[in-house]
Amino acid sequence: MKDGGSLSQPRPMTRLCDYQPPPWLVDHVNLHFQIEESEVRVDSRLQMRRNPQAGSRAAAELVLDAHGLGALELRLNQRRLRPGDYEQTERRLIVPKVPERFELDCKSLLLPRENTSLEGLYASGRLLCTQCEAEGFSKITCYPDRPDVMATFTTTIEADARKYPVLLSNGNETGRGENRRHRHWVRWHDPFPKPCYLFALVAGELAVLEDSFITRSGRRVTLRLYTEAHNQGKGGHAMAALRKVMAWDEEHYGREYDLDLFMIVAVDDFNMGAMENKGLNLFNSSCLLGTPELVTDDRRRRIESVVAHEYLHNWSGNRVTCRDWFQLSLKEGFTVFRDSQFSASQAAPVVKRIEDVNLIRTQQFAEDAGPMAHPVQPSEYLEISNFYTLTIYEKGAELVRMLHRLLGQDAFRQGCELFFDRHDGQAVTIEDFLRCLEERSGRDLGQFRRWYHQAGTPRLEVEADHDPATHSCTLQVRQSAPATGGEAARPLHLPLLVSLLDDRGPQTLQPAAGTPGRLTSPTEMLLEVREASQQFRFEGVGERPVLSLLRDFCAPVRLDFARPREELLFLIRHDDDGFSRWNALQELATSILMTLVEEERAGQTLVLDHPLQELFRELLARPGEEDALGALMLELPAESYLAGLQTPAWIASIHQVRQFVRGQLARAAESHWLETWQRCQVAWNQDEEGEGSRRLANLCLSYLSLLRGGPHLELCRRQFHQAGNMTGVLGALTAAVHCPLAEAEPLADELLEHFYRRWRSEPLAVCPWLQVQATRPHPDTLDKVRQLQEHESFDPRNPNKVRALIDGFCRHNPACFHSPDGSGYRFL
Ligand code: BES
Ligand code: ZN
Repeated sequence: MKDGGSLSQPRPMTRLCDYQPPPWLVDHVNLHFQIEESEVRVDSRLQMRRNPQAGSRAAAELVLDAHGLGALELRLNQRRLRPGDYEQTERRLIVPKVPERFELDCKSLLLPRENTSLEGLYASGRLLCTQCEAEGFSKITCYPDRPDVMATFTTTIEADARKYPVLLSNGNETGRGENRRHRHWVRWHDPFPKPCYLFALVAGELAVLEDSFITRSGRRVTLRLYTEAHNQGKGGHAMAALRKVMAWDEEHYGREYDLDLFMIVAVDDFNMGAMENKGLNLFNSSCLLGTPELVTDDRRRRIESVVAHEYLHNWSGNRVTCRDWFQLSLKEGFTVFRDSQFSASQAAPVVKRIEDVNLIRTQQFAEDAGPMAHPVQPSEYLEISNFYTLTIYEKGAELVRMLHRLLGQDAFRQGCELFFDRHDGQAVTIEDFLRCLEERSGRDLGQFRRWYHQAGTPRLEVEADHDPATHSCTLQVRQSAPATGGEAARPLHLPLLVSLLDDRGPQTLQPAAGTPGRLTSPTEMLLEVREASQQFRFEGVGERPVLSLLRDFCAPVRLDFARPREELLFLIRHDDDGFSRWNALQELATSILMTLVEEERAGQTLVLDHPLQELFRELLARPGEEDALGALMLELPAESYLAGLQTPAWIASIHQVRQFVRGQLARAAESHWLETWQRCQVAWNQDEEGEGSRRLANLCLSYLSLLRGGPHLELCRRQFHQAGNMTGVLGALTAAVHCPLAEAEPLADELLEHFYRRWRSEPLAVCPWLQVQATRPHPDTLDKVRQLQEHESFDPRNPNKVRALIDGFCRHNPACFHSPDGSGYRFL
């Protein structure tokens, strides 16, 4: 995913098995920042003592991290250290002999405007801000830069009040004052001991949106959302999301916010989406700000989930933090699970689930199948900032989801509450989390732990056998997984949700006595799979049933279950679970597309001879179908998903076949697409209920635009000018620009130009404008991308622009990036 890996000198391998508790602890940190014209002077005072837990063998030597800090001025218990009294390298500071307890003062000098790493203290526009996770704090001052050293912080910031009227850090404001010559200062104190990666500072001219929240115990918390002037008035949605998630965490995990003040700041140049610094979250502007006019529905929901994610870290990550970076998924996987639960509670849960599953099955599975494969708890790393991966985040979240499912909501919640209470203020491990769940559920998670240590996507093969004589149905389940680091995979413990359907729909289930698992409803069972090969039997099954398997994508596995396409059609029409219906359609479409890819490779003319057209017409006409789910169902599997099923992957054929099938579907259901598009036009207002219809309208347009000589391109123009919100405008623009027909080009150019003139000064809109062009599946796209690199709107130092243009091309335009002539690879 994750961006901004460091290109500096390789470091020696860091290994989990070498973990040692910190030899020295920091009780309190006093920081003083003096912001000058182009430099910042940092004075730190660390109250340090030997860690009683560190064992008696520990040396008297003090080793601190100090990354690129240059000349320092050091004092130990007030006594000045001379260059011969310590040793300093590019990354470290070593003081050979220190007493049991001491005070260390350090003066460092920083040049934030020259810091292009966007780590440590840096400048974004006229703001100064920090980013310390994972190891950026040691770019500010020397410190034991590791999460198991937790201290309270007092931070004083001093600057010119005209350029930097707002001065922020973690915790509560405890003082402020004015000095001579327009200089002012503000002091902050954070009473909660924290690792230094949660430290933050912001200075600049900021507008503020203020609100408040009353916790369930009756405390009033002030909420402030800061932006630069050009972004004022765009934070309302984020503020509303914040208030919702604060109440949600109280209700669902019993967790209250703890400080009197919660602040969020929008930063334009930011590597990641956002950062959960204690009491002072920093956000990439693109994950915080937006009005319906300016950002799409997808973006609005992304904002809601990032706000939720960072807020939820206040407990899963901050109050209870990680012992070392091998435990990263303890905070990230758990918090992604928590934010997905929150998002699912806000609107259509099935849409959220489908989006998450798409991300895992396309991107995380690909990571797990390639040279980057690693377990959710890795055992070694060279560079931690490259380890913020889809596996740590998304697979990690799926593991927590499986635990939730295996234990059930009540035991899971009790286990989590025990974890938060027992380990409050501590830096702990994934193992500590699992032990709390075991204690409160009384279950043995010994086998489940393997999930954390084995890399690669497990495969589940299922065979079903129905015996009409005994009225029973037996499932034979086999699991296998690739080896990790030369070690063969061992069988995993996983939940498998199943239903059996007959003509009347899902049947009431009668599992044979002793079947491991439990009924989650009369017609759905959670089977517990533990063996490499295992049988499950259901009784009272009169007719041969249609199986609904791996419902809700209950485990991050690939499922092999051979069945005729008619069964998939049956599930699409009759399954009672929206996710399973979508999944069945994906499977059906995948099977049709992959057969055509074979035929295309064999030089055959493409013919779509499957009743997919009929199904699409039926789904479009289906009364009462939720539009959002409908739109997701009618979208064919992504090229990247299909590519993941082939070795080697024939990217060009996949693209060609998918476009061919889309064209056929466009023609076969033309009037249905048109009518549906018209029906959805009512939704171009701003309300959240209209989201499904807007999504469906855009989908209809993308199909209609494929029809040669049709009048439908005109609809793009109409929607573009009339929609009045970004979802409709961008949907129309995308349909026109991505249309493979030459006749669409004048319109595409016209709309692109119009869009740019309207939004040129608004980065939140310029980014999608760049991305639409970078993702256009057309042979000229690479040239276009090169031109855009020189365009006034592009800035290679801004991560959002780079992500829109370069990532857009390299990661979201497979047909062009993987061009057989190698031009895409050369470009990257
Ligand atoms: N702690 C991370 C942000 C981070 C990671 C900063 C690594 C620096 C280095 C934050 O909580 C996070 O995970 N953010 C995600 C968004 C989230 C919704 C998954 C991001 O930034 O992409
Ligand atoms: Zn996070």
